[in-house]
Amino acid sequence: MTFLVIANFKSNKTHSEVKDWIATVKPKPNMVVALSFPHLSLFPSTFSLAGQDVSPFPMGSYTGAVSAKQLEDLGVKYCIVGHSERRRYFHETSVDVAAKVRELVGSGITPILCLEEKDITTQFAALDDEYFSKCIYCFEPSVDIGGTTTASPEAIGAIKQKVEQFVPGVAFMYGGSVNADNIETLLPLGLSGVLVSTACLDPVSFNSILAKLS
Ligand code: PGA
Repeated sequence: MTFLVIANFKSNKTHSEVKDWIATVKPKPNMVVALSFPHLSLFPSTFSLAGQDVSPFPMGSYTGAVSAKQLEDLGVKYCIVGHSERRRYFHETSVDVAAKVRELVGSGITPILCLEEKDITTQFAALDDEYFSKCIYCFEPSVDIGGTTTASPEAIGAIKQKVEQFVPGVAFMYGGSVNADNIETLLPLGLSGVLVSTACLDPVSFNSILAKLS
């Protein structure tokens, strides 16, 4: 698998700010943009798209929800689930995450499952075994989000090892304060990619990250 760089916009940017970003960043084959639902259709098909969340239910009478089928219909290829901000502010549980994974896989969308440092076993216990190998896992320690320093290589390696006890050889990413100044320190860790938020919002700083990888 190529080294993926996922730009997670979170709940940022207006319509016109998104258009400016698109005008400044050149799509690359290893780049994915994770967007708020209203922005998904602004991107040309040269960009690979991700959702930041999905309904745990199929299409139907679930006011306010966006189903996996609706994301699939917009050409979405990946979807983040279980981000620590979803768990913290929306009280999302690992059981909710498992239902979302089921819906996504059923629609051919790859879940990017964010894992918290503690209780990896509990987080896996909630998932159906048959979906273990269908996800890309992303270690995103909440304490390391939104700063300038990543988690230590040792901490990242320890979680990678734990995940591999459940799914040997699975795709494993890291997210948390990744930027152009530290991305190279992560490359020797054998990761499948990185999830970037703060440093992706400014297209110039995001381009610098991409430049370090080319
Ligand atoms: P950060 O956020 O790059 O701002 O640390 C990463 C994320 O939460 O996806």
